[in-house]
Amino acid sequence: MFVIFVQSNKHIGDNSNIEVLADNDIDSDKAEEDVIVKAEKWYQQSCSLCHGSELEGKLGNPALIDIKDNYTLDKVYKIIIDGTGDMPGGFLQGAEARSVAEWIIKNN
Ligand code: HEC
Repeated sequence: MFVIFVQSNKHIGDNSNIEVLADNDIDSDKAEEDVIVKAEKWYQQSCSLCHGSELEGKLGNPALIDIKDNYTLDKVYKIIIDGTGDMPGGFLQGAEARSVAEWIIKNN
């Protein structure tokens, strides 16, 4: 969509590339926001049952507050994929797991 827009601008000799770039920046900000909203939704669907909707821990499962003091983003991602101790892996996969790991780190 973006590429088509730029090409058609060139075609008609319109030099509004700066405007096009600005539009694209706004789109990527929005895309980032969407990912954050989705990550929270995925967390609530797949993790909150055990870890609580506020990361506070639940039913004897550990809280995920201050997790960044103990784990890197990659380690949290790996825990989601592979599980750890009594927690099985695979509640989320791939990009969803990655987004939720980032969301947890950022929310601490
Ligand atoms: C069925 C319950 C359950 C679900 C669902 C679950 N977990 Fe866990 N999680 C656990 C348990 C139990 C542990 C502690 C494992 C251990 O150390 O034996 C744990 C540990 C963790 C840890 C390490 C915490 C620490 O302080 O060592 C992270 C990070 C984590 N879970 C993230 C997640 C994420 C993200 C999700 C959703 C994708 C998720 N968990 C879903 C039960 C669950």
